[in-house]
Amino acid sequence: MYLITAIIRPERLDAAREALQAAGVAGLTVSEAAGFGRQRGHVQVYRGAEYAVDLLPKVRLEVLAEDTTAPGLVDVLVAAANTGHAGDGKVWLHRLDDVVRVSTGERGPGAV
Ligand SMILES: Nc1ncnc2c1ncn2[C@@H]1O[C@H](COP(=O)(O)OP(=O)(O)OP(=O)(O)O)[C@@H](O)[C@H]1O
Ligand SMILES: [Mg+2]
Repeated sequence: MYLITAIIRPERLDAAREALQAAGVAGLTVSEAAGFGRQRGHVQVYRGAEYAVDLLPKVRLEVLAEDTTAPGLVDVLVAAANTGHAGDGKVWLHRLDDVVRVSTGERGPGAV
């Protein structure tokens, strides 16, 4: 089981959500985020070593996935979030020890 976390542009949220639904995900968590990457939150890179870091608004998506579906979902997310420009975001995979479905107590892949 994996936790897929994606930090994407807010304006790509609808496309990402629709693509994930079409791919058959069992669930999705969405939250507001703010952050910076290599451009330090700036649209343009300024001269000089020191300048303030800005936090740009982003959206965080979290999806639990089984081993067999996780790689494909990463591809789906990347395709939906990509505009071809810096700041498009990042997707990472985290291997999970366990998942619990609270209503039933079910554990493991079946709980995803
Ligand atoms: N190394 C990182 N650790 C944690 N969060 C990150 C990291 N890099 C990027 N993020 C998150 O992703 C958001 C978008 O990052 P961004 O797409 O600008 O990454 P980048 O490495 O600068 O790539 P690019 O050059 O394509 O912009 C950031 O605002 C931040 O929330
Ligand atoms: Mg960047």
